[in-house]
Amino acid sequence: MSGLISLTPQQFTMFQKFIYRQTGIWTQDGKIALLSNRIRRRLRERSLQSFDDYYGLLAAGSIPGELEAFIDAITTNETHFFRMPAHFDWFAGPFLDELVAGASAGSRERSLRVWSAACSSGEEPYSLAISLAEQASRLGGWSLEVVGTDICESALATGRSATYRKRSLESVSAERLAKHFIATPGGDSWTVRPEVARLCQFHRHNLLDPMPGPKFDCIFIRNVLIYFDSGSKPVALKHLVDSLHGGGYLVVGTTDGAHDHLEGVERRSTFLYRKP
Ligand SMILES: C[S@@+](CC[C@H](N)C(=O)[O-])C[C@H]1O[C@@H](n2cnc3c(N)ncnc32)[C@H](O)[C@@H]1O
Repeated sequence: MSGLISLTPQQFTMFQKFIYRQTGIWTQDGKIALLSNRIRRRLRERSLQSFDDYYGLLAAGSIPGELEAFIDAITTNETHFFRMPAHFDWFAGPFLDELVAGASAGSRERSLRVWSAACSSGEEPYSLAISLAEQASRLGGWSLEVVGTDICESALATGRSATYRKRSLESVSAERLAKHFIATPGGDSWTVRPEVARLCQFHRHNLLDPMPGPKFDCIFIRNVLIYFDSGSKPVALKHLVDSLHGGGYLVVGTTDGAHDHLEGVERRSTFLYRKP
């Protein structure tokens, strides 16, 4: 088992390149201990003794479901409700003002499609759905859809369960908690109320691929491109911009370094871009 302690530099490079090809995530050279720990868990799960054997089976696709399990193991899924509150203030305020005014003037349909791209376990799409529920008085008769996607199946499973522990809910006020969540019988977690949850749907999607289906009025893409590099960021951003309607908005994380790789959109603020 001594070979399992840590990846060798050669093995690290092999997995680093594999992860990059599959996801666009560039694992920094200093992350050898972290990556070793994460992959070691997969070896244990598959009762394998060597990183090289595991890589061979993984890369050849010889173990059904292992690529998905590997990606689940290597992604960082940290998130919480109403992360970066200014983005949700913009969404529930100026963004909906513009949409509602457009619909009243007859220049747009009463419909809104939002994409939470790389949504992890669903806190971001549900925060958007809660924001919409709180604006229900001016969205009567609207068709509302929040699509959450991620590459990580286990995170999506939490999203579909709509049930969260306290740690995810720390930025949720007591008033919001009471209004939009139901405490589970054990009292240690809370489930999003069905009238809000039904606005959201979850799908597995890789940001390196084009997004199928109709375009969106607004896309949130936050705290994921920071893991990409100057080769994979523009690929993901092009697909995102392609998925926006003209006049649609892209909301990016302020530390994601998207600006230099964005084409075909106008910068509106540190986090906001509009497709002309
Ligand atoms: C840190 S979470 C961000 C969650 C949420 N957007 C937020 O800001 O709180 C990053 C997510 O990006 C996902 N991810 C990484 N690479 C991806 C890819 N190529 N396609 C789709 N999702 C990806 C991970 O699985 C993870 O759930």
